[in-house]
Amino acid sequence: MGVRFTGWGIAVPERIVTNDELSQTLDTSDEWITERTGIRQRHVGGSAMSLGITAGLEAVKDAGLELSDIDFLVVATTTPDRLCPATAPMIANGMGLTCPAMDVNAACSGFMYAVRTAYGLLETGNKKILVIGTENLSRWVDWTDRNMAVLLGDGAGAAVLEYDPDGSDLLSFYLGADGSAADLLTCEHGGFFEMNGREVFRRAVRVVVDSAEKAMASAGITSSDLSLMIPHQANIRIIQAAAQRLDIDMDKAVITLDRYGNTSSSSIPLAFYDARSNGRIKPGEFALMTGFGAGMTWASAVVRWSR
Ligand code: UT7
Repeated sequence: MGVRFTGWGIAVPERIVTNDELSQTLDTSDEWITERTGIRQRHVGGSAMSLGITAGLEAVKDAGLELSDIDFLVVATTTPDRLCPATAPMIANGMGLTCPAMDVNAACSGFMYAVRTAYGLLETGNKKILVIGTENLSRWVDWTDRNMAVLLGDGAGAAVLEYDPDGSDLLSFYLGADGSAADLLTCEHGGFFEMNGREVFRRAVRVVVDSAEKAMASAGITSSDLSLMIPHQANIRIIQAAAQRLDIDMDKAVITLDRYGNTSSSSIPLAFYDARSNGRIKPGEFALMTGFGAGMTWASAVVRWSR
């Protein structure tokens, strides 16, 4: 069975917070943030619902579909606007969708987990699925905590996946989770994000490399076949370390964290969209999508674009 990515959309809030602006209230500097993370600014504002609606509508339009064509909505979010109900039905309502709608929370791997979920739904009879990663991380950041405040940003990215019996853009997946590492990155009810950054960094490189190697082996390719790496955007040094171990030239890596910061489950679709806008998505070429996050969770997929 085959799955095609047929439409994409994004949304970011207008308000931009630069490193210099953060340095006015935190014991940090543009130099430290840029050198240690690669982040220069982040967009802040909106809600998981409002950003998701905008990105979702663009993706459906981009796919050339009507809202009534969408069979299922899967929303990946770490920062639902409410504990209950899920964000997906509210996004569906705001978009004008009447299909089933549910959330998936796999933190920064969320978009890839949602794509995997959509794949399963397409395998069992659905024809067109909208997947949205949407995050309002700024709401759960303690803006006096320099450890987290410099890293996160808000935004959303969406993709339409369509069943195609004749071929597939998605060639392989490898997903994983390790709940014994749950305490490394948390946000308790009523609290803020907290992280053991060094340990998350160390494990992130390991799981990205491992899952990417397994996804590539399953697709029957090696890293030399890749034209593009679309990684989760947490830290440029994590991407560099993983790319080096995978023998992928950094010129092939899509980088958006300089402009958006870490947008968790939105970061991979935001990066895809950026690559496409810059003419880097070419039919017939192989790309690796790879993410990791709280949980810990991780997910890699090999795709070959058909459009
Ligand atoms: O999306 C998935 C989850 N998140 C991640 O993947 C993030 C993974 N971790 C990281 O990206 C990095 O570990 C951080 C960016 C969080 C931290 O970078 P690091 O190179 O691991 O720094 P560190 O924690 O080892 O801290 C180095 C120094 C410390 O000072 P001392 O002890 O050497 O005097 C920190 O107190 O930098 C200090 N520091 C800061 N200084 C200025 C920590 N945060 C800041 C800051 N500004 N914002």
